[in-house]
Amino acid sequence: MAGARRAPAPLLRPGRAGAPRPGQVHVQFGADAATEVAVSWAAPAPAARPRLRVGLPGDGYGREVPAEERVYTDALTGGTAYTYHARLAGLAPDTAFACQVIHGGADPVAATFRTGPRGRARGFRFTSFGDHSIPSPVGRGLGPHTPNAGYVVDAVNALDPLFHLMNGDLSYANISDAPLATWASYFTNIMRSARHRPWMPAAGNHENEVGNGPQGYLSYQTRFELPGNGSAEFAGNWYAFTAGTVRLLSINNDDVCLQDGAFSSYRRDHVPGYVERGYDPYVRGYSRGRQRAWLEAELAAARADGEIDWIVVCMHQVAMSSARLNGADLGIRQEFMPLFDAYGVDLVVAGHEHHYERTFPVRGVLPGSGLLTPAPRGSDPAEMDTRDGTVHMIIGGGGHPASGAAGGEGGPPEGALIAGVAPGGPPQQRRSAIVTEPAPWLAHRDLATPFGFASFDVAPTEPGGTTSITATYYGAAADSPVYAPLDRFVMRKPVGAGRRSTPRQLVTG
Ligand SMILES: [Fe+2]
Ligand SMILES: [Fe+2]
Repeated sequence: MAGARRAPAPLLRPGRAGAPRPGQVHVQFGADAATEVAVSWAAPAPAARPRLRVGLPGDGYGREVPAEERVYTDALTGGTAYTYHARLAGLAPDTAFACQVIHGGADPVAATFRTGPRGRARGFRFTSFGDHSIPSPVGRGLGPHTPNAGYVVDAVNALDPLFHLMNGDLSYANISDAPLATWASYFTNIMRSARHRPWMPAAGNHENEVGNGPQGYLSYQTRFELPGNGSAEFAGNWYAFTAGTVRLLSINNDDVCLQDGAFSSYRRDHVPGYVERGYDPYVRGYSRGRQRAWLEAELAAARADGEIDWIVVCMHQVAMSSARLNGADLGIRQEFMPLFDAYGVDLVVAGHEHHYERTFPVRGVLPGSGLLTPAPRGSDPAEMDTRDGTVHMIIGGGGHPASGAAGGEGGPPEGALIAGVAPGGPPQQRRSAIVTEPAPWLAHRDLATPFGFASFDVAPTEPGGTTSITATYYGAAADSPVYAPLDRFVMRKPVGAGRRSTPRQLVTG
């Protein structure tokens, strides 16, 4: 009897006896951070009975939910990624939870998270950077990698944020010969923080792995479980969530950027059928206006919501830059900036340029500017009133080793703007046509510190009836794990000042 039961065990329980434990564990918020969370992970092969146990710390795991399996096959290598996603809803706000991530017969992996506060009940902190990469090379080492890509995870975690925003260019898998291993390295690296707090991404140009799905985002879409946007086709490419009095919107600027930023010569030369199958990494306009329509509806809803005091946009490419790495992109000014103006977005965090800089509040454009150069609406770099305009931050020193040179060296800072692209095509990258412009919007920049991230402390109410977000930038030298505060400023306005039922008339002079 016992022997008969033992014999089929390996088939019934393929994960037992040395099965790989759940890896790459990371947490995400749902649309309502106070009540909705998703826990995701990966396995090197299909995992049996993937599930999540959840409970209060010290109180056992009273709830078990099954996880959904989502897989994709990488067009470059033919390898398959197996990912698992367990969604939780109806959670208590502002509460710490403990989880066990389980599949097959493998030992469980512990995770924790805290739900967001409700409304103005309590302040909180979040952090942000872009352009991360991985801590050590994989494959032939074609993708970027630095020790700081590892150090920054610990630096973020040490500040114990409620969540972290990743401003695009996460793993740089699209320029690697080993994209699955690159993603595994990326998630394994962030896991020591991301399995304890949500790491909420925006898709950057290096998330576009040509051949993986219609626009190259299939890997990104498969690996994250993000709030819905009404589109299965573009799931995760843009989304929004609410934490306390902050509405956060993550958008994908590849949809509007002029730059040919997703081109990968390695994938061109090695993805089977690149030319014959018509693969094309230049995806500008891919949503056919759906993202812009969604963004406008979301911004209008946020501005009409009396519980929302702050609108924060997380995106990758930038609307203004004074450095010469890529440059800012005119497409963002044409498509998204008018919406930021009309609905009073308070703060934009971005990357793509691999340094740190920030603007005064901007609204409208400089008089007569054919380049749509944003107009500054303030001059105090330490305290900003975002009723006057939107503060933009470039926080692109997450880990990529390349930095940018200053624009306007020897004179006043200049902006660099991609105003067009030369002819090209799927096999040949379109070169950016870069023009320069005055940069009166520039409030502060740091081109000398190669790596860094920002933290944001949200005070929903203050004596005197105001609310504020205090931003601190932490920077580190190359190969140094020490992140020191280098810049700080405050955004402040009256509680409830953000509420509007109609969009603002655009100011252009
Ligand atoms: Fe980047
Ligand atoms: Fe980028």
